[in-house]
Amino acid sequence: MIELKHIDVHFETKEHILHAVRDVSLTIEKGDIYGIVGYSGAGKSTLVRTINLLQRPSNGTVHVSGQDLLGLNAKDLRSARKKIGMIFQHFNLMNARTVAGNVHYALRSSSLSSEEKKLKVTELLDLVGLADKHDVYPSQLSGGQKQRVGIARALANDPEVLLCDEATSALDPKTTLSILELLKDLNDKLGLTIVIITHEMEVIKEICNKVAVMENGSVVEEGDIVSIFTDPKNALTQEFINTATHIDQALVKLAKHPSILDLHDNDTVVRLSFVGQSTNEPLIASLYSRFTVTTNILYGDIEILYDTPIGNLIVILSGSSQQLKQAVNYLESQQVTVQQLEKIQLVNKSKVIPLNREKII
Ligand SMILES: Nc1ncnc2c1ncn2[C@@H]1O[C@H](COP(=O)(O)OP(=O)(O)O)[C@@H](O)[C@H]1O
Ligand SMILES: [Mg+2]
Repeated sequence: MIELKHIDVHFETKEHILHAVRDVSLTIEKGDIYGIVGYSGAGKSTLVRTINLLQRPSNGTVHVSGQDLLGLNAKDLRSARKKIGMIFQHFNLMNARTVAGNVHYALRSSSLSSEEKKLKVTELLDLVGLADKHDVYPSQLSGGQKQRVGIARALANDPEVLLCDEATSALDPKTTLSILELLKDLNDKLGLTIVIITHEMEVIKEICNKVAVMENGSVVEEGDIVSIFTDPKNALTQEFINTATHIDQALVKLAKHPSILDLHDNDTVVRLSFVGQSTNEPLIASLYSRFTVTTNILYGDIEILYDTPIGNLIVILSGSSQQLKQAVNYLESQQVTVQQLEKIQLVNKSKVIPLNREKII
């Protein structure tokens, strides 16, 4: 378990003091895949570097596996750090050493015999799917393969925790998925606790069971992934989720859609959001059979997060105002959130946004 309490990090520059992390308290349980998401400069790297004291906090305490890291002497801190592996955006490999040489280097202060070290390197390369790259140099590897070497190296001393700082940010989407799959696999197989920093909610959505959102050095929202995705409270969290689920792009595109430009009096555009069960219900069919309200689906997205389906639809509902009212009441009784949308004109683009005024349905 990792416990950060009231962490502050200040950097003193010539002109001023920069508060990179402000009073952050987080608990990361053993076996969690914990995501920290935020824009560049939010303080994510600085915060995560306090977990292994690569960055000493100006205030606060850091406990990892029950040990108070700030209370350790240099020797004990060195051995505590071995239990915390780390991987980076640009891999940080040594180009003059082979793949095996890079991993072997991480074992330099291990108590294993030289035979055992060789065996360990082979096992680690096998674990990350690079058994055939033992004697190859980093320059001959793809980005995804380089990150696999980074992971093998980070696991050399059998850590309990793996810190990943933008570990997939330099990779294409397909390679990103394969690295995330490997991390999930290591989490399952080894019970490894993983902390993932990223500016992409899509990465979080793929494997994390918990997430914290950072802005300006503070954690503005945190919780388990399903609650955060279904009921985000903070505007920044909502923005990240809308991007990850492509709702934002859909709303911009829809503003140009002929069916939105040409709505009839009895038409209304709504966003329907639902979690779990509702996705299996033939809701749209029942809107017609119960209320003779027709539904024209403009956009749909279903995410499966930890086995829980989370759906978003943007639809045009058509019917008399009485029928629409009944249909919306029915949807809400089925735990579907209904949000009426309207079209607005922005400076250089139009976009469909939630209605600000009182609901008219
Ligand atoms: N060693 C440092 N000295 C001074 N300022 C720093 C240092 N490291 C980070 N910062 C500043 O702290 C803030 C947070 O940085 P960082 O933790 O790297 O954010 P993120 O990882 O979310 O992009 C930024 O304004 C950055 O410029
Ligand atoms: Mg960073």
